[in-house]
Amino acid sequence: MQVKITLYLLISLIVSSCMDPKEDISNISIEHESISHKVDSLMSLMTLEEKVGQMNMYSDFWEATGPLPTEATSKYKFDHLKKGMVGAMLNVHGVEHIKKIQQIAVEESRLGIPLLFGYDVIHGFKTISPIPLAEAASWDLTAIEKSARIAAIEASATGLNWTFAPMVDVTRDARWGRVMEGAGEDPYLGSKIAIARVKGFQGENLSDLNTIAACAKHFAAYGFVESGKEYNSVDIGTSTLYNIILPPFKSAADAGVKTFMNSFNDLNGIPVTASKELQRDLLKGQWNFQGFIVSDWASIKELISWGYAKNESEAAKLAVSAGSDMDMEGYAYINALVDLVKEGGVDEQKINDAVSRILRLKFELGLFDNPYKYCNEAVETEKLGHKTHHTAALDMAKKSIVLLKNETNILPLKKTGQRIALIGPLANDNHSPLGNWRAAAEPNSAVSVLEGMASFKGNSIVYEKGVDLVNGDISFAKEGEINMTDTSQIKTAVKSALNADVVIMVLGEHGFQSGEARSKTNLNLPGLQQKLLKAVYEVNQNIVLVLNSGRPLAIDWAAEHIPSIIMGWQLGSQSGNAIAQVLYGDYVPSAKLPMSIPRSVGQIPIYYNHKNTGRPTNRENNVFWSHYLDSENSPLYPFGFGLSYTEFKYGNLKTNQDKYTVDDIIEISVKVSNIGSFDGKEVVQLYIRDLLASITRPVKELKGFKLVKFKKGETKKVTFNLSKEDLGFYNNTGEFVVEPGEFEIFIGGSSESRLNTTITLK
Ligand code: BGC
Repeated sequence: MQVKITLYLLISLIVSSCMDPKEDISNISIEHESISHKVDSLMSLMTLEEKVGQMNMYSDFWEATGPLPTEATSKYKFDHLKKGMVGAMLNVHGVEHIKKIQQIAVEESRLGIPLLFGYDVIHGFKTISPIPLAEAASWDLTAIEKSARIAAIEASATGLNWTFAPMVDVTRDARWGRVMEGAGEDPYLGSKIAIARVKGFQGENLSDLNTIAACAKHFAAYGFVESGKEYNSVDIGTSTLYNIILPPFKSAADAGVKTFMNSFNDLNGIPVTASKELQRDLLKGQWNFQGFIVSDWASIKELISWGYAKNESEAAKLAVSAGSDMDMEGYAYINALVDLVKEGGVDEQKINDAVSRILRLKFELGLFDNPYKYCNEAVETEKLGHKTHHTAALDMAKKSIVLLKNETNILPLKKTGQRIALIGPLANDNHSPLGNWRAAAEPNSAVSVLEGMASFKGNSIVYEKGVDLVNGDISFAKEGEINMTDTSQIKTAVKSALNADVVIMVLGEHGFQSGEARSKTNLNLPGLQQKLLKAVYEVNQNIVLVLNSGRPLAIDWAAEHIPSIIMGWQLGSQSGNAIAQVLYGDYVPSAKLPMSIPRSVGQIPIYYNHKNTGRPTNRENNVFWSHYLDSENSPLYPFGFGLSYTEFKYGNLKTNQDKYTVDDIIEISVKVSNIGSFDGKEVVQLYIRDLLASITRPVKELKGFKLVKFKKGETKKVTFNLSKEDLGFYNNTGEFVVEPGEFEIFIGGSSESRLNTTITLK
């Protein structure tokens, strides 16, 4: 402790002697200025070895979220902690553990600089919210922000001060397992959700006890890995990069996110970890991002496997020159940077820049005032799994459920007198609904559908598993490992279905079958589930299919035959309660798909904001147009689609003028009526189409949405304002331009809505 106190005194003395007494600026800038002084003062005390140490992050000794190299022994890491050669730790959590490690850094190292503690708090810490893709389906920014806020409250209570979230990668390819972590296929919705999540994690003030630093990841283009295969290559043009991939990152930066994580992929031949263009020039330069960039797990060292760096030293040099500030469990910086600087291969200024960014965050978090500020056992006990967090998780889960089909109005279910057969391997599962990236959730702690349904007492329920499902965890992820010949349980399930008034089938993929390193080539229902579904359908067609999955699945047969389908994702701790309340109509579904559901895997990548092509229609009635011989072009269910138990009608779409100048605000209104027989909510969506431009533009682009409540029979006027920011785009040199011409404007309840008008921009 002595060392630490000396350090603080020293910094304060140096800071006060450097302060300009004439400084007359606002409190915020005084604070910012004074942090800069403190950082500079601290840096002047540091050796080169200690500076490089700040740029080094290790995973813990108990848990790993990537491949651990052999040198990663506890002894080695403890030794580095004592020598001040570690700036941050990941995967350590719990007050007890964090305190122990922080104590080594603060009390045993020469300068006692506190550590950052980062963890993948992606959708909750102990109380688990729906997976991020499911939350995105709510289009409810307030609820999404609240969900991140609760995650931050629990994470900070357990000693953490940094989350590796939000993931803001736009995703068009459901074969890639990580689609579950993001907000889906649209840059506009993705940007709004990125802002909500950053605000939720970081709160109003980062130095508060219950806020943590956020991390926008994975910068950039990781969502576009070729063929959906994990860690793969990305080759895309400037237009896609600037108009589709970067907007959510830019929004996160503008919202004040404190850190960015780079990505495993290469982009047009340059591994992103070594991309100066993306990190130093664009993010830190053009966007003026003041925080720091952490590598992804060992991505610096992996420059060698990419064939881009000949050895560890070159990998370190390339990454630091490009602007990667911290090496996550990669050992390249700690092994090579000191020598690189001494030998003149890396300018020490680059090290100073990285370290000052890292230290600034530590000051902003208040770690120098109290390195143990998040380490309070009483708070930890009180906050983790708090009842109010479960109430919010339930609310979020209900808002995330998408009603895809309800042809014969089986839903909402009658509350009494029904014999219900509840069938499927996921119906009685308490583990899978927690999804992947479940942080510190207790295993098997989710409410299953069976439990949720059982809390409604008026009906009788018979449960049958039907078939087995591979659970997909790290050591057992292969579908081939399930017994595809044992159909004995199907017979029993069919018998129960025969005697039921309604059959609820809970099918899909296990929570560990999506997420990192869970790419797939087949998006059908895994294992024997399709067989089970068909067998039950043979004897009873009154079926509600509840899909559980972390990605869109190709369910074309079900969409054609099964009368009611809901997308129940992986909804977290309160999953079963949320599903039951929606099935029984206690909550009227309001969610809309954030990602198109394909008819088959062959349509992927599939997304609503595609280009028109030169041959969009079959006007000549011949084969030479942009289509498939064996499938429709359209998805099974489009982006923005989702039904309700009630029904909405749109009309009277109006703009306040027909012609506008570039700086005008375009006011658009529409009348929306609830013509069904329930109160409900509708996500009113506005899309534009730029009809003629200097680069080809998408057939539709989301530019506004409003989540509006309607009483039964109520009509409301919903108004949107568009500005030049909404009508412009990035050209192929990455410059934002607004071009005059005609724009079509569409408003409706999905990306396929047809109600439209045209305006002219002069
Ligand atoms: C993932 C990151 C994650 C990191 C730390 C990596 O494998 O790509 O998203 O934050 O591990 O767990």
